[in-house]
Amino acid sequence: MSLFSPYTLRGVTFPNRVVISPMSQYRAKDGFANDWHLVHLGRFALGGAGLVFCEATAVEERGRRTAGDLGIWRDDHVPGLSRIVRFIAAEGAVPGIQLAHAGRKASELRPWHGGTPLNDEDMQLRGEAAWDAIAPSPVPFGDGWPVPREMTEGDIATTLTAYREAAARSLEAGFKVIEIYASHGFLVHEFYSPISNQRADAYGGDFDSRIRFAVEVAEAIREVWPENLPLIFRVSATDWLDGGWDVDDTVALAKRLKASSVDMMDCSTGGIGGAMRAGRMPFAHGFQVPFAERVRRDAAIPTMAVGMIWDPGEAEAIVADGRADLVALAREVLDDPNWALHAQAALSGDDSFETWKPEFGWWLAQRQRMVKKLGLR
Ligand SMILES: Cc1cc2nc3c(=O)[nH]c(=O)nc-3n(C[C@H](O)[C@H](O)[C@H](O)COP(=O)(O)O)c2cc1C
Repeated sequence: MSLFSPYTLRGVTFPNRVVISPMSQYRAKDGFANDWHLVHLGRFALGGAGLVFCEATAVEERGRRTAGDLGIWRDDHVPGLSRIVRFIAAEGAVPGIQLAHAGRKASELRPWHGGTPLNDEDMQLRGEAAWDAIAPSPVPFGDGWPVPREMTEGDIATTLTAYREAAARSLEAGFKVIEIYASHGFLVHEFYSPISNQRADAYGGDFDSRIRFAVEVAEAIREVWPENLPLIFRVSATDWLDGGWDVDDTVALAKRLKASSVDMMDCSTGGIGGAMRAGRMPFAHGFQVPFAERVRRDAAIPTMAVGMIWDPGEAEAIVADGRADLVALAREVLDDPNWALHAQAALSGDDSFETWKPEFGWWLAQRQRMVKKLGLR
């Protein structure tokens, strides 16, 4: 089985190709990880995944998307994160962190509260005040969104330092993989997409100038992130918009990142905003896999496929057919944190529970024998 074969990137070997995609919980206070994050992520390590990503973790306080985002802009954020790292690693999975900056999408309500900019009502209900967002250009995310402040070269330097320091803290916390959150309309994506970047200086205009911030973020992280540890870049491979970023741009960016610092492209899509948002997204099982396949082939860099993947046979085929090296899941594992264990059993036809933790598997195997013997189901 390809999906359950080990995979090595730099000096890190994943026990299999199943990745838990970053999933923001909006449950942190002042950026601090708590018991919720430990239990949420710990379930996936027990459930057999090879790589477990912590959610989008803000490198700057103003780079949080919501007041509940996880953070790594302070030294005292580290102990809460290392507690999670220790658990994931002790249970045999590789712990990863996603470093994030929301840019113009900062100061937002949680999705289930509306996903709109923070307002006075949120202050009254939860005591969470809005804050000012920064972005490459003073262009709002959409109707009803505030105009972000255009970043000065000083802001850019400060933000690059924040990424570098966050990477150093990630290392201290014990993470083995960093992913740069450079998709879904957040800061790094805002720089490389022509939809949101209207700068006339060295960070805007032509392709090379628009990708400059992305490359500098990756290189800043690499300055402190050891040679033996992988750096992954989550890209929005297309904006799905006329005049937006597209897959040819992604291939060119991947080649550039590979040459300096990045080991794998995690290929998501969309999220840049604007009136035509998501209009052309052809939602279907594995609809973003063609981007992982194309980037892997044309930029000759390993890729991760993500999005609407839940069928074990199709996940297996993605890896077996060489369309991607890793397969990431999000919503499906909220429904079934043991997805990897179930997928392995389904693909191998082995329902002995031997790959499960004995604290669970021993009992389940024993019950299964009894149930079969008695013909109960
Ligand atoms: C609850 C939830 C939170 C998410 N938070 C993040 C995040 O912090 N960072 C990120 O890159 N993507 C985030 N995503 C997107 C997922 O990582 C994934 O790319 C997307 O859900 C598509 O995969 P799926 O169809 O398997 O859910 C989130 C998705 C969900 C459902």
